[in-house]
Amino acid sequence: MPDAGSQQAHRPRRTRADRLRATLSWPNPAGILISIVGSAVVFMGAMSIAEEPAEPSTTTASSAVSATLPSSPESTARGDAPTAQPESSPSTITASPMPQPTPAPLIQGASSDAPIQQLFATGTAAPTDRLLWNIANPTSPLVLVNKHNPMVPADYLPADLRAPNVPLGSGEPALLRSEAAAAVGRMFAAASADGVHITIMSSFRSYETQSTVYNGYLAQKGQDLSDTSSARPGFSEHQTGFALDIGDATVSAACEFTFCMADSPAGKWVAAHGADYGFVIRYPMGEEPVTGYAAEPWHLRFLGIAVAQDMSVRGISSYEAYLGVPAAPDYK
Ligand code: DAL
Ligand code: ZN
Repeated sequence: MPDAGSQQAHRPRRTRADRLRATLSWPNPAGILISIVGSAVVFMGAMSIAEEPAEPSTTTASSAVSATLPSSPESTARGDAPTAQPESSPSTITASPMPQPTPAPLIQGASSDAPIQQLFATGTAAPTDRLLWNIANPTSPLVLVNKHNPMVPADYLPADLRAPNVPLGSGEPALLRSEAAAAVGRMFAAASADGVHITIMSSFRSYETQSTVYNGYLAQKGQDLSDTSSARPGFSEHQTGFALDIGDATVSAACEFTFCMADSPAGKWVAAHGADYGFVIRYPMGEEPVTGYAAEPWHLRFLGIAVAQDMSVRGISSYEAYLGVPAAPDYK
């Protein structure tokens, strides 16, 4: 923060248009929300806005704009006290209210009034790459994958898979997207410091691997039970590289991939602290009609810290509800 007091005397007074441009400047995503209305105001500003009012104004982009025109450009650069004598008799131009277009949702694909939109509107949670603000983008940590929303393309393969340096609980090599792998490393280290020893049982699975897994379920359990336990190929979050299944090194192998994982030290720890590392339990107990899957207290999904914590704070259990999208109990 600059020292406002020492700079006050020589600071140029900012016009409303200056302030609006500052508000719109990257990376503040709140600027995106008002970018459409903002451009209209900037255009109107060429006609009617020349100087910020001396007193705080309640004028908004959606209301009429009224402002004074200064007598000379220098008057805006002198830094005169707001209560100083007017430089000249101001002329006033009042513009009529203009119909404003409905702002586009910040997160493409999410409901316009969904909680996630409120989070991103604060300007604190957005990735710098706008392409990632799209829940249909398979490379985004925000991507929605469920029975209504398959991977597109079906054979999507993440570009930056890497092996997290954490204990494994199965013979399956662990691979995650780079960002999720780093987060897993931090999370497992924190759990270990608390005396909890989490392992990775499964992580990235290609379309082909998911086919093998799903067909294995089919052979043993039949279609209905398989479809509430395993995603069909092309419909699994594991293909994003942002999902993993955990185990607990201190409990019986009989607890792996079963509900009792919720009562294990690892299961309790991730339920309490996973959001602080960007992870949510994606298929919680009680959300079966929304997610389409029986509860999986072992399946974690990386959404990023801001989203995961916001879901936790708001007490929203399913990512579908957080996005304001329909439940996906069955394949279409
Ligand atoms: N078990 C989860 C639903 C998957 O197969 O992706
Ligand atoms: Zn899983």
